[in-house]
Amino acid sequence: MTLRFASRLDNVETSAIRELFKLLGKPGIISFAGGFPDAAMFDVDGVQQAANAALKEEPGAALQYGATEGYQPFREQIASFMAGKGVQNLAPEQLITTTGSQQALDLLGKTMISPGDKVIVEGPTFLATIQCFRLYGAEVISAPIDEHGVITEELERLIAQHKPKLVYLVPTFGNPSGALLSLERRKQVLEMAVRHQTLVVEDDPYGDLYFDAPPPPSMLALSHSVPGSREYLAHCGSMSKVLSPGLRLGWLIAPAELLAKCVMCKQFSDAHTSTFAQATAAQYLKAGRMPATLARVRTTYAARSKAMGDALRSHLGDAVRFVQPQGGMFIWVQLTGANGQEKDGNALAKRAIEQGVAFVPGTPFFAQNPDPSTLRLSFATADIPKIEEGMARLAKAF
Ligand SMILES: Cc1ncc(COP(=O)(O)O)c(C=O)c1O
Repeated sequence: MTLRFASRLDNVETSAIRELFKLLGKPGIISFAGGFPDAAMFDVDGVQQAANAALKEEPGAALQYGATEGYQPFREQIASFMAGKGVQNLAPEQLITTTGSQQALDLLGKTMISPGDKVIVEGPTFLATIQCFRLYGAEVISAPIDEHGVITEELERLIAQHKPKLVYLVPTFGNPSGALLSLERRKQVLEMAVRHQTLVVEDDPYGDLYFDAPPPPSMLALSHSVPGSREYLAHCGSMSKVLSPGLRLGWLIAPAELLAKCVMCKQFSDAHTSTFAQATAAQYLKAGRMPATLARVRTTYAARSKAMGDALRSHLGDAVRFVQPQGGMFIWVQLTGANGQEKDGNALAKRAIEQGVAFVPGTPFFAQNPDPSTLRLSFATADIPKIEEGMARLAKAF
């Protein structure tokens, strides 16, 4: 029997990253390939206490079906978490809980994109977003970035040319670029959203993972200073990188009409996000444990990021160019090809596996015009000795 799959699948392929991950089972491999947070950072005691409190104080609700919009105490906690990050006047009703921020992206795709519509993303950007938007039939257009994030003149030119349904940005410590969109550019993007009446999606799972200094406020926090911009802004948040991805908790803040349509689509998808996970996270936030957890994660990742940057410089020298990240989980590396050294990330990835070290080559992260001389290294999960050993192995792969 031949199954006749939906034509929307013609538009997407299995991710190249998944194929690469199959090779990572090899014993002894040091992997910088994943996008996982470090499991050793999980506040297991805190989550356990929060889960116990949820079961003790609200067992009926925590284990029952819940509202599609989300569990109210969780929405309240998220509203105050966001207020702590400069988002003014956010009522719990203006956000919905999603099953990871990935679901928020999916709901935005479902509600906004018809086959043939254009969307603009950064080149490079989060691979699953490219795939998700393509699944809904989008033509995904890539806007170039530099170390300060998306280049706004180019973005505006592309918006004017393509009249996209939406623009998707990861402005703070982007995946994979690590780039940080400057304050000035954030305001420019908001002004552009109003000028061109185009929805901008701010995906912000990494904003809390800053090292020395907090990043500029999110575009959501800045939107009050750009009249009209809130009507064209959707913001996705996530517990994954700060507390636990296994809880599958994200949230979406969007204009009321769009949010209502997302709720409708979510109803048909998973009915609601786990009430138990939401009740647990609500208790966790209420107990006030988040600041200490964030502080621990920031310190650890900052030290690893620095160690990786130092080791890259000392082991690989002029073979690579990169900007030392100010937060997040990734270093985005450009192979320079200096002195005839390897310049192709895909070729290097294969030889690196033979040397016992893994990373993701950069090409899958581009919706258009892939730059084969790029690669992504995650510094989140390996400790410093492993990072140093990994970089020494990587040098042997050249
Ligand atoms: C930029 C970006 N957005 C969204 C996600 C999805 O995260 P989650 O669904 O776990 O919240 C990730 C995960 O790696 C990501 O890097």
